[in-house]
Amino acid sequence: MTDLDSDTSIVTDPALGPLSTPTLSVIVPTYNESENITVLIDALEAALVDVSHEIVVVDDDSPDRTWEVARAHAETLTNPVHVIRRTEDRGLSSAVLTGMRAARGDVMAVIDADMQHDEAVLPSMVNEILAGADICVGSRKAEGGGYGEWSKSRRFVSWTATVMAQQILGTVASDPMSGFFAVSREQFTQAEEKINPRGFKILLEFLARSNPDAKVVEVGYVFRNRERGETKMSGGVIGQYLLALLDLRLGRVVSPQFVKYAIVGASGLVVNLAVYLLATLLGLGAIAAVLVGVQASILWNFFMNNRFTYRTQRYDRSFLLKGVAFYELVSVHGLFTQLCVFLTLDRWGPMDALGFASSFVANAIAIAVAAVGNYFLHTNYTWSRIAGRRQ
Ligand code: GDD
Ligand code: MN
Repeated sequence: MTDLDSDTSIVTDPALGPLSTPTLSVIVPTYNESENITVLIDALEAALVDVSHEIVVVDDDSPDRTWEVARAHAETLTNPVHVIRRTEDRGLSSAVLTGMRAARGDVMAVIDADMQHDEAVLPSMVNEILAGADICVGSRKAEGGGYGEWSKSRRFVSWTATVMAQQILGTVASDPMSGFFAVSREQFTQAEEKINPRGFKILLEFLARSNPDAKVVEVGYVFRNRERGETKMSGGVIGQYLLALLDLRLGRVVSPQFVKYAIVGASGLVVNLAVYLLATLLGLGAIAAVLVGVQASILWNFFMNNRFTYRTQRYDRSFLLKGVAFYELVSVHGLFTQLCVFLTLDRWGPMDALGFASSFVANAIAIAVAAVGNYFLHTNYTWSRIAGRRQ
C-alpha cells in the first residue's frame, strides 16, 4: 500500500483554491538517504525558482526513516513536497513508476537523492520537453557533461554498457544508463503499461519501449561524487544489466526472473556434481555422496536465488533459516514431482520409440516440469512479499 502524505504536503491557499497543476514534477526515489534528502530538496527549490513544480519523494520504507525526515522538511516549505512511503513494493524502477503515477505535472523528471545528478540543468530539460521533445536525457556524454572523478576502469565498464545498449536496443542516446531524465506526460502515459517495474534502468525501458519516432534529446551534466550515505547499486549489477538488455530485446516472451532462476539452477547442477565427486574422493558411499551433493546444491541455489533472482524480496540474515526451510520443502516436493513424471513417462512408454535414449529424454522432461513447478512455488511462497524481508 502506498501512503500519499496529503495532509502535510499539498499546499492550498484559501484565496486561490487548490494549487494549480505544476509544470514539473520531480520524482526522487530514495532508499536510506536521510542524510541527503533535505540537502537535495533545498537544492531543487533553489534550482527551480522559475519553474512551477512539485517534488514527489518515493521511499521504500527506509530503515533510516528517510520518509520521516523528508516529511518534516516538507512542512517547513511552501512548495508542495509529497512523500510516498511504500511498504509493500520495492525497487528503483517501480518506485519511479509509483512517483510518476502520483505526479501531476506536465513534465516529469527523475533525479537521484544523493546529489550525484546536477539539479541546475533541470530547467533546460523542462524547456526541451516543453519545446516538443518526448524524452530528455541528462547525459554525461553530451556537450557540457562529464564523469567527474570516475576512475579509468569505471569509465570503461560504463562505456561497455553504453555501447551494448546502443547496439542491442538501437538507441541513439549517448548515455542510456542515466538515472537522470525527463519525459512528457504523454510519453509516460503511452509507455507506462509496457514498462517492466522490475527493470533495472527505467530510462532504458522508456527508450526501448517508446515509439521509434519519439523525439529524444540530451542535456549535458557532470556526475558528482556521493558525499553522504551509501550506493545501493553494488553486487550483481553487471549480470542484472545484461539480463535487462536481454529482456528488453526478447520482450516478455520469457520472464527475466525465470532466466535468472534457470541460470542459478544450472550453476547448482555444477555444484551438485562437484560436491558429489569430492565426497566420493573422500571415501563416502555412493548414496551418501549423492545426498551430500544434492544438499550442497540446494543450499547453493537458495543463497544464489536470494542474492540474484529474488533480490528485491530477499531474506536478510535474521530470516535466512526460514528461507532455507521453505526452499528445502519446495526442493523435496520438486524431487517428488520429477520422480513421478519420470516414472510415468518411462514405465508407460510413450517414449519407447526413442530406443535407448528414452529414459534420458523422460528424465529431461521430468526435470523441466519439476523446475517450472519449483519456480512457481518459490515465486509465490518462498519469496512471496510477506515471507521475504529486505535488509
Ligand atoms: N525507492 C527506492 N527503492 N529508491 C532506490 C532504491 C530502491 O530500491 N534503490 C536505489 N534507490 C535510490 C537511491 O536512494 C538513490 O536516490 C537513487 O535511487 C540511485 O541509487 P544509487 O545507489 O545512488 O545509484 P548509483 O549512484 O550507483 O547509480 C546511479 O548512476 C547510474 C549511472 O551510472 C543512478 O543514478 C542510476 O540511476 C544511474 O543509472
Ligand atoms: Mn548514486
